[in-house]
Amino acid sequence: MVSMDESPLANIIGFIALASYIATLLPTTLRIVFPQTKETGIPQWLLKRRRIIGIIAFFLVMGHAFLMVQKRNFDFFDIKTFWIYIQGVSTFIIFALLTITSNNWSVKKLKKNWKQLHKLTYVAMIILIWHIWDKMSGHWTYLTPISLIATTIITVLFIIRLRIEHEDKQQKNVNKVTKADLVGKSSR
Ligand code: HEM
Repeated sequence: MVSMDESPLANIIGFIALASYIATLLPTTLRIVFPQTKETGIPQWLLKRRRIIGIIAFFLVMGHAFLMVQKRNFDFFDIKTFWIYIQGVSTFIIFALLTITSNNWSVKKLKKNWKQLHKLTYVAMIILIWHIWDKMSGHWTYLTPISLIATTIITVLFIIRLRIEHEDKQQKNVNKVTKADLVGKSSR
């Protein structure tokens, strides 16, 4: 029989951070992949609060990382430590960058680069699957399967979203060409 460990506080905080982070990805994903959810008002509700939910996620991650650092007696002067925790550390850096730039001033200052920078959130999504799988391997808690299923579902939905966006773009280009052809014809 498969036995699962109880979840310590550090893991619970990591799990809530993950749930908050996923909530920030949902509005756009739902709007594109399941446009009918618009009627429920959920994507709009989440969209309005996306910035604050993202900031909360970052503070929870800080709590999670802090407790893990304590629990595992991190040696910050050993480069191997950073290698072992590479997924956690890189996601932490991404979250920090996104949190620092989650304000109107940064949006104005960074202009186009702001959107590019915030695309890092999707990199974090993939690294997180690896983080949970790697760090929990061999001692799953009750939270581990839920975390893995949730991160996998949001990643699959993201891939579907990219496909839909790509198809829409192609369709728009076809329409543009057809319009241009018609204009060409009439002026000939
Ligand atoms: C410096 C950053 C991080 C460090 C050092 C770190 C460290 C760890 C460690 C050591 C574990 C395994 C815990 C155990 O053995 O019981 C773990 C699990 C986990 N971490 Fe992180 N982590 C970091 C960042 C993150 C981030 C950014 C998130 C989510 C947004 C996250 C979410 C989780 C989750 C959900 C688990 C699995 C909990 C479970 O299944 O019980 N971690 N982390």
